[in-house]
Amino acid sequence: MRKELKKIAVMTSGGDAPGMNAAIRAVIRAASYYKLESVGIYRGFQGLIEGDVEKLDARSVHHIIQKGGTILKSARSKEFRTVEGRKKAYDVLVKNNIDGLVIIGGDGSFTGGMIFNKEFDIPIIGIPGTIDNDIFGTDFTLGYDTALNTAMEVIDKIRDTASSHNRLFFVEVMGRDAGFIALNTGIGAGAEEILIPEEDMGLDRLLMSLEKSRRSGKTSSLVIVAEGDKTGRSVFELADYVEENLPEYDVRVSILGHMQRGGSPSCFDRVLASRMGVKAVELLIDGKSNLMVGLKNNKIATTDLELAVKEHHRINKEILRISDIMSV
Ligand code: F6P
Repeated sequence: MRKELKKIAVMTSGGDAPGMNAAIRAVIRAASYYKLESVGIYRGFQGLIEGDVEKLDARSVHHIIQKGGTILKSARSKEFRTVEGRKKAYDVLVKNNIDGLVIIGGDGSFTGGMIFNKEFDIPIIGIPGTIDNDIFGTDFTLGYDTALNTAMEVIDKIRDTASSHNRLFFVEVMGRDAGFIALNTGIGAGAEEILIPEEDMGLDRLLMSLEKSRRSGKTSSLVIVAEGDKTGRSVFELADYVEENLPEYDVRVSILGHMQRGGSPSCFDRVLASRMGVKAVELLIDGKSNLMVGLKNNKIATTDLELAVKEHHRINKEILRISDIMSV
């Protein structure tokens, strides 16, 4: 017979993302609504191994919905990759009478959660929290919308100076394996070219396109480069290459970096976090496990964690087409 759910835990793991606090709040408030006890685990799996657990209730999560980062902190744990580490983590759960775990994180965190579940049968529900939007089973991950707007605002500012000096800027945005941020901020900020890992446009085409832009009368240009683009060159090497081949261009480079992970979450991310947090708790109450909560066509949907980790969230070809047309 299934054990009655009395106490749940929530943790944030992997790279932080705006909206994680809103999701922690939603999980804790939903637990309180359904008369469950709840705790927060600090520093992800590492904190769990070390017993860094604190009782949280509806009031302890007040005024965090608007905060960036994660009040529970985040970490990547090498020890959790070992059986011994996971056994220690399980002992902490038993000691604290925790019978369900919500993990807010990316695919690395979900993989850890699945292995943990297989070994120790602890119910796990995942909430996709990463600015990269690279998780299968959801149209949007938590933090992505905020990161898009953060990056786009900065790129707008870069456009001001690029246009004042008739310069070409290479702007690197985050996305180690995915081009969602690059593609969408590129369209949003009116970039001339966008380089993403999913599509290798090749250096010749880049040169041709920049040359065409110049000839068509454009005085400044922006090339948005995803961190993980497939040209095989760093953004600085790319800039040097273009400057050597198109000496008419005065080229500069700007790397946006971790600023994209911070800041107050957008309204979209706060509402998404609230919806996902409530669903995660309801799934645990229904005796479900190894599922990820996502949003598909504006409806909350669940996906097997295994599938969420194995499959890739693909770039929408329609958006790619729009970006081509817009850079004419
Ligand atoms: O959160 C995802 C991500 O932003 C990636 O795009 C990036 O490559 C990575 O995190 C960097 O994370 P860290 O600096 O924490 O290793």
